[in-house]
Formats: sequence, C-alpha cells, structure tokens
Amino acid sequence: MTANARVKVLLVDDVEENLRVLEALLDRDDIEPLRAISGREALELLLVHDVALALLDVQMPEMDGFELAELMRGTERTRHVPIIFLTAGTREHSRMFRGYDVGAVDFLFKPIDAAMLRHKVNVFVQLHKQQVERDQLAAELREMLRLNEMFVAAVSHDLRSPLGTVLTGVHLLESDVTDPGPRRILARMRSGVDRMKGMLDQLNDLARARLGGGIVVERSPASFRSFADKVFEDLRVAHPDRTLAVKYGDDGGAPLAGKWDAQRLSQVVANLVGNALIYGTQEQGAEVRVWGEGSKVIVEVHNGGVIPEALRPHIFDPFRRGAQRQAGDGLGLGLYIVRQIVIAHDGTIDVNSTPEAGTTFRVELPRESPA
Ligand SMILES: Nc1ncnc2c1ncn2[C@@H]1O[C@H](COP(=O)(O)OP(=O)(O)OP(=O)(O)O)[C@@H](O)[C@H]1O
Ligand SMILES: [Mg+2]
Repeated sequence: MTANARVKVLLVDDVEENLRVLEALLDRDDIEPLRAISGREALELLLVHDVALALLDVQMPEMDGFELAELMRGTERTRHVPIIFLTAGTREHSRMFRGYDVGAVDFLFKPIDAAMLRHKVNVFVQLHKQQVERDQLAAELREMLRLNEMFVAAVSHDLRSPLGTVLTGVHLLESDVTDPGPRRILARMRSGVDRMKGMLDQLNDLARARLGGGIVVERSPASFRSFADKVFEDLRVAHPDRTLAVKYGDDGGAPLAGKWDAQRLSQVVANLVGNALIYGTQEQGAEVRVWGEGSKVIVEVHNGGVIPEALRPHIFDPFRRGAQRQAGDGLGLGLYIVRQIVIAHDGTIDVNSTPEAGTTFRVELPRESPA
C-alpha cells in the first residue's frame, strides 16, 4: 500500500440503513468503506483487507460488537486495528469490553453526532497514514543499507586481486633492488599494501557479518597457547617500542584446551592486544592474562589510559574511533569484528575503563559450543 492509497475503514452494523448512513457520513476521497452486516462477515473481510479502523455496532444478534472486538484482539493480524464502538448504552456499558487494554478503543453514543464521528475517524485515518509512511521509509532505508553492504562486500572482494598484483611486484623488485633509497620506498609500499589488505579484509568481514547474520566460525581442538603465542610474537615485532607482558594462569591437566576457530581467535587477540599497545600508555604497555575456569577460558587485556567517555557506549559499533585521528590509523572496525567473532563462539566481551584503573577488556570463551 502506498501513502496516498485509500484507507480502508470497516463498518459493521446489522441494520442496513445504519450502514448507509455511516457510509454517507464518511464519504471522503481517501476512505474506502468496507461494509459488513454481521460479525461473521466482518471477520471474513478482515482476513483479506488491511483496515485502518473498525466502527462496530455493539448490539447485534449472534455475535455482538464486543465479542467481535475480542476476536479481533486475539488475532495477530487484527490485534492493533483501532476500534470505535457505536452503542446506545450508557457510559458504564463501555467498560464491558475486556480487550480494552490492547490498542486504541473509542466510543460513540447513539444517536451518533455527525461532526464527532467525522472528527474521531479523521484522527485514526491520519494516524494510519503516518504509520504507512513510516513503514515505507523504514523499508526504503533497509533496502539502502542492504545495497550498501552488498556494495562494500563486492568492492572489498574485487580489490584484493589488483592489490595482490601490486604486492607481487613489490616482492619481485625487493629481490632485485639493492640501493638503500629505493629499498626504503619499497618497504613503505609493502607496508601500505599490507595495511590496505587488512582494511579490505575487515570490510569484507563487516559485510559478511551484516549480510549473513554473523561471522561463521569453524571449531577444531586446539590449546589457546598454540595460536596466541604466535600472535604475541608478531605484535612484539610490530611494536618494538612497547612492552607486552603475557601471563598464562593455571588450568589443571588440560592447559587452555578447547574447540575453537584458531584463525578467528587469533584475529581477536591481535586486535585487542594491538589496540592495547597502540592506545595504551608507553610506561605500562600491554598486559595479557589468560586462564581456565571450568568450561571457559578467560582472556583479559589491560593497558594504561582510558577510552574517552563519549566513545565508551559505542566502542563495539562499526566505524567508531577515538577523536585524535592520524593518517595511518585503522577504520574503527577492529572491536566490532572482535565482538562478532566472540559472539560466534558463544562467548562474551566486556570493557572496563576508568582513569584510575586504566582499560581492561575481558573475553569469556566457552571451550565448546553449548549443545
Ligand atoms: N585498549 C584501548 N585503550 C584505549 N582506547 C582504546 C582501546 N581499544 C580501543 N580504543 C579506542 O576505541 C577505538 C575503536 O577501536 P577499534 O579497534 O574498533 O578501531 P581502531 O583501532 O580505531 O581501527 P581498526 O581496529 O579498525 O584498525 C579506537 O580508535 C580507540 O580510540
Ligand atoms: Mg583496533
């Protein structure tokens, strides 16, 4: 239905003449009246039409207006259709409708005042039109987001191949060139290409997480140390000016064993510890503690310094980064992807950051996927 289509209003009365009067009173270009002579007929119409409003006569044989309204409230499709009861009863009578608390309900007392009827109907018709517009806008936004994510997925995928060509070229030149000047240039080119590849991988993860409903992990048995130690070594090489202290805690007879996606968890460790090294204080560096607790392995990554208060609530959202940006900084996808990977492992991640205590990320990973 489009925003300017006619709005359907259901009119239910067992007296033909009353229906004619109602229809005449509601003669508007933007209203399409649907007439029903009984509750039963009304229900049949409600099965096929989306109505914006129902005007129900209360006194009808077989099924009265209140019974019809209760049936409408009991069905998901019609639960929120606003209802105006037309009743000859007193105001006390109006309490008889038991579905009162669900959706909008109003009363008009007979003899019906034409102006009052038109006014009340108009309010609901306008509300309905606004709702239709909002729904349309939301659908358009969803579609735009989907297209955007497909675009990101396609571009981040297709750029890898030409980037691979550049990287191969750099490799070839590195083995030929001996002059220190050009070698420095090649080294910078290689690190630029590496960073670009890292960003493309992140964008691809983002798109896959969004389009596919999460990052997919493949679990296989491994000790946490078997992959984490390699990551720590790489990080020490990449950040020679910072200290990285790693403490493995006790874990009984099976040291930090579990079934997990080693490659994806390496990404988690690399991002969290990389952040701690980049954004932490030089004096303190990064401190990692890993230990086992029953069916879980716990990882804590600590550094000095604090996450700005304004950033903290959004820290795991995509493209959120600190205010002091420099050329060479990341996209702000690291923690978003970290969280998606942890969730895919049925784990949890939290952060605690205060000026006194510094910043600590804590990840809890079940060793196996819960059955
Ligand atoms: N350990 C930390 N200590 C202090 N601030 C942090 C820490 N980790 C993250 N932050 C802040 O949170 C922001 C978001 O981190 P995130 O890892 O998601 O993105 P990024 O590091 O900016 O870029 P990317 O990881 O995509 O290369 C960072 O820019 C930084 O401001
Ligand atoms: Mg990061």
